[in-house]
This record gives sequence, C-alpha cells and structure tokens, in this order.
Amino acid sequence: MMNLHYTVKGQTVTLTSDQGALILTVLTDQIIRVFQDRGRHTNSYAIEGEKKVETPFDLKEVGDHLELSTGQLTVTVGPDLLLDVFDAQGNPLILDYRGKRRPIAKTIDAAHQSIMRAEGHEVSGVSQTEDRYYQVVKALDPDEQFYGLGDKTGYLNKRSYHYDNWNYDEPRPHIETFTNLYKSIPVLFGLKKGRPWGIFFDNTYRSHLDLGRENADYYFYSAVDGNLDYYILGGSSLKEVVSNYTYLTGRVPLPQRWMLGYQQSRWGYSMSQDRVEQIVDTFAKYHLPLEAIHFDIDYMDGYRVFTWNKNIFKDPAGFLADVKKRGVRVIPILDPGVKEDPDYRIYQEGLDKGYFATNPDGSVYVNRVWPGKSVFPDFGRPEVRDWWAGHCRFLVDSGAAGIWTDMNEPAVFDGEIPEDTVFSDEDQKSDLARMNNVYGHNMAKATYQGLKKATGRRPYVITRAAYAGTQKYSTVWTGDNQSLWPHLQMSIPQLCNMGMSGFSFAGADIGGFSADTTPELLTRWIEAAIFSPLLRNHSALQARDQEPWVFGPKVLDIYRHFLHLRYHFIPYLYDCFAKQMNDGLPVMRPLVLNYPEDARTRNLNDEYMVGDQVLVAPVVEQGQVSRMVYLPEGDWVDLRTMVTYGGHRDILVEAPLDQLPVFVRADSVLPWGRLVEHMDDQPEESMTFRLFGQHGDYTHYQDDGYSFDYEQGAYNLYQIHMENQGQCSVTVTHHGFKPVYRRIRLVLPERTLTLSLDDKSQAPVYRETEA
Ligand code: GLC
Repeated sequence: MMNLHYTVKGQTVTLTSDQGALILTVLTDQIIRVFQDRGRHTNSYAIEGEKKVETPFDLKEVGDHLELSTGQLTVTVGPDLLLDVFDAQGNPLILDYRGKRRPIAKTIDAAHQSIMRAEGHEVSGVSQTEDRYYQVVKALDPDEQFYGLGDKTGYLNKRSYHYDNWNYDEPRPHIETFTNLYKSIPVLFGLKKGRPWGIFFDNTYRSHLDLGRENADYYFYSAVDGNLDYYILGGSSLKEVVSNYTYLTGRVPLPQRWMLGYQQSRWGYSMSQDRVEQIVDTFAKYHLPLEAIHFDIDYMDGYRVFTWNKNIFKDPAGFLADVKKRGVRVIPILDPGVKEDPDYRIYQEGLDKGYFATNPDGSVYVNRVWPGKSVFPDFGRPEVRDWWAGHCRFLVDSGAAGIWTDMNEPAVFDGEIPEDTVFSDEDQKSDLARMNNVYGHNMAKATYQGLKKATGRRPYVITRAAYAGTQKYSTVWTGDNQSLWPHLQMSIPQLCNMGMSGFSFAGADIGGFSADTTPELLTRWIEAAIFSPLLRNHSALQARDQEPWVFGPKVLDIYRHFLHLRYHFIPYLYDCFAKQMNDGLPVMRPLVLNYPEDARTRNLNDEYMVGDQVLVAPVVEQGQVSRMVYLPEGDWVDLRTMVTYGGHRDILVEAPLDQLPVFVRADSVLPWGRLVEHMDDQPEESMTFRLFGQHGDYTHYQDDGYSFDYEQGAYNLYQIHMENQGQCSVTVTHHGFKPVYRRIRLVLPERTLTLSLDDKSQAPVYRETEA
C-alpha cells in the first residue's frame, strides 16, 4: 500500500510518496505550477519576475488522494503521483493517463531499411534510451483539439500530429510532416469537449509532443533532460487561458507606430547603393507606402557583424540619413556567427574576454557560416549580452531604425553543433543541449536592450529563432518559406498559432522567400497577409523579383489598393496592440479563440480574425475566384459591399483576383486611418471612425507612437459612441498625452458628422461642427 505525504509552505505543497516527490505551487487561482526536481538549473528564460500573487486555496484529503483547489482549478494527486485537473465546475481538463504507452513499432529490419534508403527515403529509428529522458502522458478525449506550439508547420489543430522542440534552420520546403522549425514555444492549449485548458512546459532541453498520433487514447510530452516543470493554465474561456499564458511569459510591448506599416526586403538589395535607391525611388514613383527597407548580409564587410562594406557604403550614416529623408528607414541584419579573423575587432574583443562558446576541452568552438569560419557569442551570459548590446550602438549611429537577428538557432554549415559544446546558462557552465532553444531568445533580448539604450525608442528587433517569452523583446517571422501556394495556405494557421503562443507581432515573408513567385501568388499573398501584424515582403538572392511593380500595372494596382487598406487599418491594429498589453490576446487570431464553443471554428485553416471585430477570408488557392466563408454567430458586414450577412453558416462570396473578402462584426465601430506614404512622429490632427451596423461603442488609444512615455501614463483614451438613428458622442476618458485630435469624423451608414475640439474648454471636449 502506497502512502502520500505532504507539507505546505506558503502557496507551495510538496508531495512525497515512494514514487518520489512532486511540488505544486499556486501562482494565481488559474495558474498552478507542477515541478519535479531532476537536478537541473531551475532558472527560467521564459518567465521573468514574480508571478505568484497571494491566492487562497483549499487542501483536502479524499481517500488516499490529496485535493488542492483554488475555486477555479482543482488538482488531485494520488500516491502514484499521477495528477488530474478539473475546472471550476468539476469537469475534467487534464488527466494523467493510467495505461501504458503503446509506441508505434518503427523499427524495420536492416534489409528493408536498405532498400528504402536506396530509393532515397529517410529511415530513422526512434530512441528513448537517453538516461535522463522523462515523459508525461495525458488522457486524450475523442472530442479534444490542440493549439499553440509556436511556428510548427501544418494545420491549426495540432491533434494527431507530433512535434519536436529543437530550434533548427530548415532549408527544405516546410511541410506538415516537419516536426520542428526555428522556434520552440512549448505551450499547448486544448479544448476538451469545448472546455479550455493550457499547459506550458518550461524546459529548454529537446522535447517532444505527441498529440494523439501514437495513439488516440493519450497525448504525451517527453524531454531528453531537464526538470519536470510545467504550468497548468485554467480560465473560464480559451481567451482567459491564453491571457494567463501571456501573463506568465510576458506580452508584446507596444511597437512604434511605423512598425505596423509596409516593409520591403530582399537578400541582395544592399549589394549596391544604387539598388537601394532604385527600390526606394520606385516605391515613391508608384505612390506605394514604404516604412522600411531591410539590409541583408551583403551590407557587411565580409559578413563581419558590426561592420559596413566600405566599397559599397562610403558613408553609411550619410546614406541612411538620405534614405530617411525620403521617409524610409533601414533595418540591417545581424547574425550571431563572428568571423574568425585576428584582425577583426569584434572577434579579438570577444576572444580576449572569453565570450565565445567553447568545446569541452576549453578551446573556442568554430563552425562555418556566411563569413566562413566563425565563433559564437555565449548569449546565455549576462555580460556577453551586455557586450553585444553595447555594440548595437554602432548600427544605431549609422542610422539603423532597428535590427534583424537571423541564423540564431544557431545555424551552421559544417555539421550540427555537438550538444556538449559549452554554452553558459546565466552564471553556470552548461551546454548546447540546454541552451540551443534559448540562443535566439538571448540574442534578441541583448539586441533589444542595446537598441533601447542607444535610442530611447521602442526597439524594433525581428528574430528568426525564439523561445517562449521572446515576444517581450522581438517581432518574429516564420523563416525561409517558399513561393508556393501550400506555403501561403500554411502561413495562416502558422501565424494564428504563433499568436496563441504569445507572439502578437509576427509575419511570414510575403511572396515567399525561396523559389519563384507568380503574379497571381504574389497578389493573393499580399491580400492574405494584409492584416498580419508584421507586413514584410522578403525574398532570396536567386529568386525572381517580387516587388509590387514587377508584374505590370494590374498587379501593381491591386497591391497598392491593399497597402491602402492596411494603412486605413493601422489605428485599429495599433489599438489591438495597446489592448493586448492588458488582455494578452493576439492581434491576428484563429476564429476558435473568439468562438471556441462553435465546433466549426476548431479546424478552420483559411480564415482568421483581427481582434474581435474583423474577419478575413483570403483566397489561397491558385485559380480560385470565389470561396466559401464560414461566419460565426452574429451578423457580419462585408467591407467591400456593406451587405450584412447572418452568421453561423457558410456563405459563398465572389473573390476575383483583386478582391479580399473581409467582414466586420455588425454593430461595431472601427477607426479608419489616413493614407500616407510614410509615417512620422507627428501626432495626427484628426481621426475618422466608421460605424458598421446600427450602433456601436469603441475605445481608441493614442500616444506619441514611439517613446516609452506611455508607461508613465502619456496616452489618451477616447470613448466613441455611434448610433445610426440617434446621438453620437466622443469622450476623452484618459488624457495623458498632450496633443489630442483637433477633428473627429464619424462616418455612419446614413450620415457623416464632424466634431471639433472646443478650444475654450480646459479638458478636451468635442462639439459637432459643419462638415
Ligand atoms: C536566412 C534568412 C533569410 C536571409 C538569408 C540571408 O536564410 O532566413 O531571411 O535572407 O538567411 O541572410
């Protein structure tokens, strides 16, 4: 007969039985940590600061079980240390599986392996022989769906697939069988019979999630090493569960307003100043908005980070200032690999200070990347991050408006980095096995801190590799996709799951990175991506050109039309970002987040929502000119025609090449931004709000768009009330940012009102004036 003992200290309950020990900590009434010490460092890269708040909870012995309840979540543990989680109504959410796993027999005999290999198939064995391996197996309900996990390929609902958490540079065309890409965000959200839950596995070692692929009776998480350390996330809605996750790992800080505008990139632009100028000039010539141009690796001197190729850029600061005068910012790239070159300052400095990763024998670890033989900053150490951050000033002094960090999985060309390569884990010596998945995180964090210090503005970092929590420091893109229709299709669930995983600021390379785009694909891509938080067209060196004008006037006009649509929506997107800091919900999101009780939303891969009000249903099939759109409950106004459709059904809509079906939830108000070709720091003089339906209320956020003053309350909140048949009003409910709009236009289905700031009044007050 097994026995269970427990001790309580504050909000921590330590359970012991002859099976070992398990520690439960109540962080909030909806977040409980489950921990088992397996002898590894307990620091977290994802969670910063104290997240525990004083929370009363009950402990009860029920038979041979202990029951811990916060009122919102109940956890029961038996002497076998198996654990079950129930919601506030006592419904099961997460139940440890009582049976044994039944692994799929993957081993085939040598003769069969050899004939499969002969045809070129990959034949791999499945090994669980690592001695520090552990697993957590949970019961799977026939009606259970999974979301989250960051940038994984495939579909929105992750059920029946399996994934690895191991940051990796995957150059082959990303397809749904790939188990891992550049990021590891081990957060899983579930809907069990429609009831939401979440688990965040905070372990940076290589881990695996099998979500009912091996067997439909269970799903499991396993890791090759590390402590067992996971957080149970509850909440009365899926939104609340996601919000709890971002409470834990942090939310995206407010971007500068221009970062929501259009950005153009291509590997090769910065091979000559003329090319850069020609791109900037052509955007101006065709009246296409452009906020930033990205400089890929070519701007550097022999791919040495923190240098300029002086043969191309005689006076980098002068050139960048000139580009900025034309309204366009420059975002240069940085890779972690530092060229091994005794005459190169950064290399020498890092070497002298011992800042590079080493082999187990203490010699500096070398591998090949763009610059040839390179060494790798040990970003896990705070002083290395400070050193790197300090050097970011070099690019800022040249006029860079942000930094793009790439190849930080870390990617190398000559074989994989051995897992015992010495990388630091803060102040402790560690290895790649533990630090691989946070290498990009720490590089992005260092870069963010460097930019913040050097500019005082909200930093713009865009990173390829990330871990849970990187959203606090950087926007992300989904890496090297290709100009393929399946990649356009995949970008929607991928970005939706990134959003669910805390990354509100994310995007995919528009047009596709590798391979050659087509006029139709590029057109559909800009349409599909036009509401994605990060809006960047990027392509590879050898790929066919994919600037908006290269396919002639028809594609150009459509492209421009959608960029205009984007700029109309920038105030709405900015409002979503401001809101997101409080509610922790993504800007671009799957329908299931807003309508989890509607089973139709749970496997919807080709539609997404922007906040709560806008539904986007792009055409992502070659040759298609109409499509079915699933509208959830409520009424929806087609933005193109202003026709209202009843929801909870599929409708068929026309969508010729120049059209994107967008629906606005009826009875809502949207801000409607002004068209500009470049954004600047000037406060807007006026703002327009549009009513969709009969009446609506809206909270609009305004600040300077670039500084951190909003943290001290320097922002304004406007409460907008619009009624088609009745009174409309605008009230400033928070006035912390001095400039307010001088004029506000309210556009209703049947009339337009213009309100002006009453100059005589002390507090900002708006009165109706003649249009
Ligand atoms: C990687 C990046 C890509 C970049 C290229 C050259 O493939 O993912 O965006 O253009 O490196 O730096």
